Amino acid sequence: MSAESMRDLLRGLTVFAGPLGTFDPGTAPEDPLELFRTWFAEAVAAGVNEPHAMTVATVDTEGVPSARILIMKDLTPEGWWFATTTTSAKGHDLARNANVALLFFWGPQGRQVRVRGRAELADAESRAADFRHRPLEGRVAGLHGRQSEPLAALSEVHRVAEESRERLTADPDLVPEDWGLYLVRPSEVEFWQGDPDRRHTRLRYDREDTGWRRGLLWP
Ligand SMILES: Cc1cc2nc3c(=O)[nH]c(=O)nc-3n(C[C@H](O)[C@H](O)[C@H](O)COP(=O)(O)O)c2cc1C
Repeated sequence: MSAESMRDLLRGLTVFAGPLGTFDPGTAPEDPLELFRTWFAEAVAAGVNEPHAMTVATVDTEGVPSARILIMKDLTPEGWWFATTTTSAKGHDLARNANVALLFFWGPQGRQVRVRGRAELADAESRAADFRHRPLEGRVAGLHGRQSEPLAALSEVHRVAEESRERLTADPDLVPEDWGLYLVRPSEVEFWQGDPDRRHTRLRYDREDTGWRRGLLWP
């Protein structure tokens, strides 16, 4: 595709087509997790595709960021949870620098939620329980222990997957050493409601010693 046709394609696309969600920050609860639960339930009810898919950004030792999509596994009063391997690129990042950012985008409603915080690895028992609850294909994929490493040929994935399937059939309770379940404890949560006239509403919560401070932001 030429640069020109790419520009034409982009210009033909709409954003904030609506009908968008509405948000009155004056009625927002004291706890951002409560507001997140409300918005999340509304995204599910509105039929947003994969509303539990979130962008997770980490930084390496040089301070260079990487972002990728992960599935939100849970939301508890402590924060957001995701599962991945500790030996992946993001696992190495987090072992050296626990700072992390999460981003949810619910396009049909014109909403995003941004979270900043620190990630911590769950205890061995919780990590094992998470792995054992995964469907078989998820456990097969999680067993190879090579996530983010260079791959010589696609056929290798199939060969190793068959080996992993056999190992799991022989020992269904098998849990790989590097299975990671992470909790993101939030220090900052921002709710963003889009508006077709671009008068977007932004409400940011900042963690304080005893609770949360709330404030509006210019869009
Ligand atoms: C919708 C979607 C959901 C995903 N969920 C996960 C997940 O829960 N855990 C995971 O390790 N990778 C998941 N991935 C793959 C990651 O985006 C990423 O490719 C992988 O974790 C390797 O990232 P890294 O090399 O930066 O560590 C998902 C990808 C998509 C598109």
